[in-house]
Amino acid sequence: MTVFLNGKYSPRDEATVSVDDRGFLFGDGVYEVITAYRGRPFRLNAHLERLRYGLAALRINSVDPEIFRQVGRKLLADNELTGSDCTLYIQVTRGVAPRLHSFPPENTQPTVYMSVTPLSAGARSPNKTITAILIPDFRWSRCDIKSVSLVANVLARQRAIDAGVKEAILVRDGVALEGTFTSLFAVFRNEVVTNPNSNYILHGVTRDVVLELCKAQGITCRETPIFEQEIRQAQEVFVTSTSMEIVPVIELDGKPVADGKPGRLTKRLQAAFQDVITSFLEQPDDSWEK
Ligand SMILES: Cc1ncc(COP(=O)(O)O)c(C=O)c1O
Repeated sequence: MTVFLNGKYSPRDEATVSVDDRGFLFGDGVYEVITAYRGRPFRLNAHLERLRYGLAALRINSVDPEIFRQVGRKLLADNELTGSDCTLYIQVTRGVAPRLHSFPPENTQPTVYMSVTPLSAGARSPNKTITAILIPDFRWSRCDIKSVSLVANVLARQRAIDAGVKEAILVRDGVALEGTFTSLFAVFRNEVVTNPNSNYILHGVTRDVVLELCKAQGITCRETPIFEQEIRQAQEVFVTSTSMEIVPVIELDGKPVADGKPGRLTKRLQAAFQDVITSFLEQPDDSWEK
């Protein structure tokens, strides 16, 4: 595979980063994950906007996310993936500098990386379901930044895997906030609920698509806290992400969610999401444009 690193396109195994890179030493950087359906990036503007937000939060000012339109397009072409479903990955770190916590000199060039990976067969299966556990959220309080410092998410996800489930739902101050790599939704009294955006969750791009779908489908949806005590009694629970789209959670802490089957509104939203992708692919392809 050809990847992009600091202005150069090269085979993946020839692209190397310095041991003094601030991403390696401090996790001092941000990233983005975008799905391209048949080679067309979905919601690219929203992803680049979130990247811009993260870079501004980290005060990395010299990278303009707009470059990734051209780089992404070229990577798909160079890897012969222009018609394939794939994942685009972007990472920007503060660059290479002697190991001091404070910012390096102004002229330090950020490390800029982008790659593309074909989606595995079955990744988009509509019949996927997951199981999850609830665990305390021990992340920092800037979860709205898509930071590469993911060690808390790594430990939480491994706790899920060790418990024999797929996802850990993170609970802070009695609120079930989100998964380690997913946004969280629940259904109570036939209303879809998701936590309001704040510094305690990532502002999910797929979450926004689901909010739009609820509106379009006439499904009542409220952005209000999902309490740990209540989620156990939810009619439905589902999670969303760029790579998983919408996936029902059928079991929480070893107990079935309602009857343990994907819920009615979850299935409706899954179908509506597929319709959005279908119509996105039917439109003239301006997905790389602003
Ligand atoms: C912590 C967290 N929450 C939510 C999401 C879902 O965000 P998106 O829908 O933009 O992929 C992710 C995706 O990686 C995530 O890491």
